[in-house]
Amino acid sequence: MTTGDDERRPQLSRRRLLMGGAAAGVGAVAAVGVDAVWRSSSSPAPPLHGDETVSFHGTHQAGVTTAPPAHATFLGLDLRDGVDGEALRRLMQILTDDARRLTDGRAALADSEPELATVPARLSVTFGFGPRFVERAAGTAARPSWLRPLPAFGIDRLEERWSDGDLLIQVAAEDPLTVAHAVRMVLKDSRSFATVRWSQTGFRRARGSERPGTTMRNLFGQVDGTANLAAEEFDRLVWIQEGWLAGGTSFVMRRIHMDLDEWDRLDRDGREQSVGRRLSNGAPLTGTQEHDEPDFEATNSLGFPVIAEFSHIRRAHSEDPDEQILRRAYNYDLAPSGEEVSDSGLIFGSFQADVDRQFVPVQRRLDELDLLNKWTVPIGSSVFAIPPGCGPDGYIGETLLE
Ligand code: HEM
Repeated sequence: MTTGDDERRPQLSRRRLLMGGAAAGVGAVAAVGVDAVWRSSSSPAPPLHGDETVSFHGTHQAGVTTAPPAHATFLGLDLRDGVDGEALRRLMQILTDDARRLTDGRAALADSEPELATVPARLSVTFGFGPRFVERAAGTAARPSWLRPLPAFGIDRLEERWSDGDLLIQVAAEDPLTVAHAVRMVLKDSRSFATVRWSQTGFRRARGSERPGTTMRNLFGQVDGTANLAAEEFDRLVWIQEGWLAGGTSFVMRRIHMDLDEWDRLDRDGREQSVGRRLSNGAPLTGTQEHDEPDFEATNSLGFPVIAEFSHIRRAHSEDPDEQILRRAYNYDLAPSGEEVSDSGLIFGSFQADVDRQFVPVQRRLDELDLLNKWTVPIGSSVFAIPPGCGPDGYIGETLLE
């Protein structure tokens, strides 16, 4: 328990908990004690936001430029043999119906736990199509040239169990129970069309822990997501303007393992040098506030750049106004095993109108040189086309499947 927790719950000290447990000799007694203290607390009840919804309908699918909620599960599905264009249309109609209802706080058809659907908690369900989905739906001519596995990078140690996939379903909400229920519904309804290739669950800070709009932190403790696209740039750099994908975008998903145990050995100065920003507030090493522009020309008294040549932000940064991406990452933290203390990393996601023009050059530079590579290893990689949104009578994928 951190000091902060103790401050918020002054009645409940670790010592008292331990003493209570020891005296009774039963852990459950301590748990009852916690509950009672919590109920008798005089602090006002926190505001509820479980009934908040994110609109499912629109020109664009939700879950791309939507403020990221705390929890997300990404599902990568493989189509079963023989699932053709007609079957894909049925599948997307069923899944759209599920998503439309669940995001609105209503039970899906034949929902076996309808009570779980009543807390949408800003649920969004976003669909993406892999290369094989598009080809089966409408032939190779319909597949954009960037819809294929990324070029091989030297830093990659990709595992099949985290890579590729025919259909992406991104389920995100402020409440993990809402996510779990929606995941189960869409998987049950996909079962006769597809099998699960991978499932990746990620998190950010819980809603209400920080002010809305606070940039997230990753498990290295870094402020991650500061230099990102502004809303005015979405039309030019995120949304595709023509063809069946008009109003859609592309999604690159990289599962990147972060070696927290090795990172522990690095001192604070080394950690800040590796990225080029301060751990305290994410300010560039040449500034004091998070959103100060980094000064890549600045040098120290010895004549060395303040933001090192090998730093992540110098390598990732592009002066080309067209070579920009919308990053939307989640942390992952699996149960460690054996000697490990942690099995953690980043589910790095980026949306852009064109993978080859916007994402690949950035990843190439990071592949060539980036000190962060010493502690990070990409173990999964997928590329999906995110079709446009739909209206109340339509379904996701209709521009491809009709
Ligand atoms: C585990 C892996 C990664 C970690 C821990 C990480 C962390 C960070 C951090 C702390 C920043 C500085 C704050 C910010 O502007 O967001 C940053 C910036 C950035 N990162 Fe990453 N990153 C990772 C992987 C990637 C990958 C795979 C890409 C793209 C191929 C990428 C692209 C960028 C870009 C474009 C910026 C902004 C650069 C600028 O200042 O213009 N990062 N990252």
